Amino acid sequence: MSSKGKILVTGGTGYIGSITSAELIEQGYEVVIIDNLSNSEKDTLDRIQDITGILPHFYEYDLQEQESIERVITEHPDILGIIHFAAAKAVGESVEMPLHYYRNNIVPMINILESMKIHNISNFVFSSSCTVYGQPDELPVTELAPVKPAESPYGYTKQVNENLLKDTIQANKGIKGIALRYFNPIGAHLSGNLGELPLGVPDNLMPYITQTAIGIREELKVFGDDYNTPDGSCIRDYIHVVDLARAHVVALERMMQNKGKADYEVFNIGTGNGVSVLEIIDSFEKATGVKLNYKIADRRAGDIEQIWANTDFANNELGWKASLTLDQMTKSAWEWEKNYRESLKTN
Ligand code: UD1
Repeated sequence: MSSKGKILVTGGTGYIGSITSAELIEQGYEVVIIDNLSNSEKDTLDRIQDITGILPHFYEYDLQEQESIERVITEHPDILGIIHFAAAKAVGESVEMPLHYYRNNIVPMINILESMKIHNISNFVFSSSCTVYGQPDELPVTELAPVKPAESPYGYTKQVNENLLKDTIQANKGIKGIALRYFNPIGAHLSGNLGELPLGVPDNLMPYITQTAIGIREELKVFGDDYNTPDGSCIRDYIHVVDLARAHVVALERMMQNKGKADYEVFNIGTGNGVSVLEIIDSFEKATGVKLNYKIADRRAGDIEQIWANTDFANNELGWKASLTLDQMTKSAWEWEKNYRESLKTN
């Protein structure tokens, strides 16, 4: 089969990276993954192969060493673009271990950009986050909203990396980059064969819900019902991870086909809808038929009350729009949780 070209995916065995890798392969690209497996499993590669029929190239390397990237690019001198997912993402942990977050999330970005310069690789997609907006003054939030002082080392690494990318592009003609500011990705690959695999107790809402429903956690705590929102729980813009994966392919092709308005661009990747924690629980129960054990608890320190995206720029300029529904998000997360637990029994 002739390929559309090679794409390097860092963090390609992780949650969003693996689903994007499957999407790239299904759209005809050849995928080269670098991942140090610090927060993912090698079996993910087999799952990608089960879905696509193709095993991606894989290197268990640490991106903190420039050598690692150089070795991979030397072996694959025809890489057309890089999607950089590899990073640690637990907000609370980043407050406890700031140096680890700065080193782990920022050094690889510098190394990759150096290698792009050396080897004239032009196209870069960066996993950024709506965390850069903090609690925005206006909702829905557009890409023009100011970046607020970061609430955590994790959030700060996203801001620093956006700046690293912007400055490198400004100083080096020929390098193009797109930062995708993800809102809240949830759900799983529609095959039910790839999804989120949190280490230990999940921090994030959706894996906590599915682990509670399957009996690993006793109950979900809803962090606060006294916010200034219609039902009192926090509001986020939850986006299906498959829609998010597709946004990466669209972003890459925008650069490869020279369709961008500027060499550095930023897009919000969300649905444009604000959904509360209680609405997520309601969708989960309706879409799966499973009753969830939950109770209202105190607010979680550091949570913002509400945020959702203005997606006009992504819809009109990038030419990408989220298409999967909230019920498809919660149902696919549940299918994945069940399949994954089942696979542990049979292995
Ligand atoms: C957080 C970060 C975000 C980061 C993302 C990835 C903040 C403000 N945001 O998103 O930058 O990219 O994690 O890890 O720190 N909830 C419960 N019970 C739970 C878990 C969560 O009620 O057991 C609620 C939270 O209060 C929140 C919503 O569910 O309202 C979503 O939480 P979560 O999935 O952790 O994502 P964010 O906090 O939005």
